[in-house]
Amino acid sequence: MLLHFFLASFVFLSSVKDGSARITSSFVRSEYPSADIPLDHEAFAVPKGYNAPQQVHISQGDYDGKAVIISWVTTDEPGSCKVQYGTSENKLQDSADGSFTNYTFYQYKSGFIHQCLIEDLEYDTKYYYRIGSGDSSRDFWFKTPPKVGPDAPYKFGIIGDLGQTFNSLSTLDHYIESGAETVLFVGDLSYADRYQYNDVGQRWDTWGRFVEKSTAYQPWIWSAGNHEIDYMPYMGEVVPFRNFLNRFPTPYLASKSSNPLWYAIRRASAHIIVISSYSPFVKYTPQWTWLKDELKRVDREKTPWLIVLMHVPLYNSNEAHYMEGESMRAAFESWFIDHKVDVIFAGHVHAYERSYRYSNVDYNITSGHRYPVPDKSAPIYITVGDGGNQEGLASRFTEPQPQYSAFREASYGHSTLEIMNRTHAVYHWNRNDDGKKVKTDSFVLHNQYWGSHRRRKLNKHLLVRLFDADTITTI
Ligand SMILES: [Fe+2]
Repeated sequence: MLLHFFLASFVFLSSVKDGSARITSSFVRSEYPSADIPLDHEAFAVPKGYNAPQQVHISQGDYDGKAVIISWVTTDEPGSCKVQYGTSENKLQDSADGSFTNYTFYQYKSGFIHQCLIEDLEYDTKYYYRIGSGDSSRDFWFKTPPKVGPDAPYKFGIIGDLGQTFNSLSTLDHYIESGAETVLFVGDLSYADRYQYNDVGQRWDTWGRFVEKSTAYQPWIWSAGNHEIDYMPYMGEVVPFRNFLNRFPTPYLASKSSNPLWYAIRRASAHIIVISSYSPFVKYTPQWTWLKDELKRVDREKTPWLIVLMHVPLYNSNEAHYMEGESMRAAFESWFIDHKVDVIFAGHVHAYERSYRYSNVDYNITSGHRYPVPDKSAPIYITVGDGGNQEGLASRFTEPQPQYSAFREASYGHSTLEIMNRTHAVYHWNRNDDGKKVKTDSFVLHNQYWGSHRRRKLNKHLLVRLFDADTITTI
């Protein structure tokens, strides 16, 4: 009986091929009004105690996952820059010293923003850490990833355009339940730039406290969106990304980048490249040169999974932000195909959309090849700008649905990508639905390097997991 079910499943799976079905889900749900959570809500609670650390967040601190950057803010005085840490909750035998900075934004004065790098950690190990001093100290923990290697399993979450509404809170709470170990964040964090004057800085602070219940315990890999630019000449603030760059450090030097807005890390079996939609990227610019070199450094024998994060999607069939990614597509799409990128995650559009493997590299100003075509070497493009910020949903899709668009729906949610081994990963988009997490769009992703050249049979472990999925296709 079980064997029969397996065989029937295979018939279904193999019947759904790239490009054969396109879905525009009619489901549109906005659970809560698109308004920010009030300042006095417990989601923004300030920790008790004099000068207690707040807005705690961590990110990867090196190229290969043996270091962590820990950041936090104190408001009364600079206080200690020390982090105590160790592998036993009761014995924090090691310590590291960091530094602090502060800045002004209009007349707002930031707290004392601490950053501390902890290096030479063991792989696959739970570490406990303590920041602050005396009665105001606070304890957290994180887990390092497995050693970089081709079959190291790992579960990533993907969140974008989060903001700080009750929809954002629903997304964050559902993400925390997912069991994913690291967030790939595709830009637009706080939406503080929807405010004016001193409220901008204040809403960056509330956002830091809002996400702390996840960011203090696992790394978030940051990429910058348009709401990080904070270009506000009417109040004299004209240096882009000032709030973001002061608050959210990235390990850009470890990947030979010259700018924190674009960089790469290796984590378990994945090589993750972060690029900046709002920094120069045309030929000969620093970002263009760096990306060209970084793609050459990718070793698919060590990190089979090549993932790119950016804010503005290159393929988007929503009326919101339609064609905004076209200039970057023209600059980089052929590289992503040549290097067989597995998947590109983006945000910006406040809805969910997934593409088939299509490319438009044959198009140029004289070829006349106007339409994207199926291309087995192309990445899958996934837009997850559905975190739930105050701007609301982008619910109008272009019609008819383009050939490249596999699934699209205007609801809030998050995604997970669970890498099983060098050949297979299981992907889910999880919609926030009446307070429940609902797996809505799911598929098994075959690795572009190992899957296409050396496709292997689905292993038994993976088949068992397939039965958890509501609807599943293989790509
Ligand atoms: Fe955006």
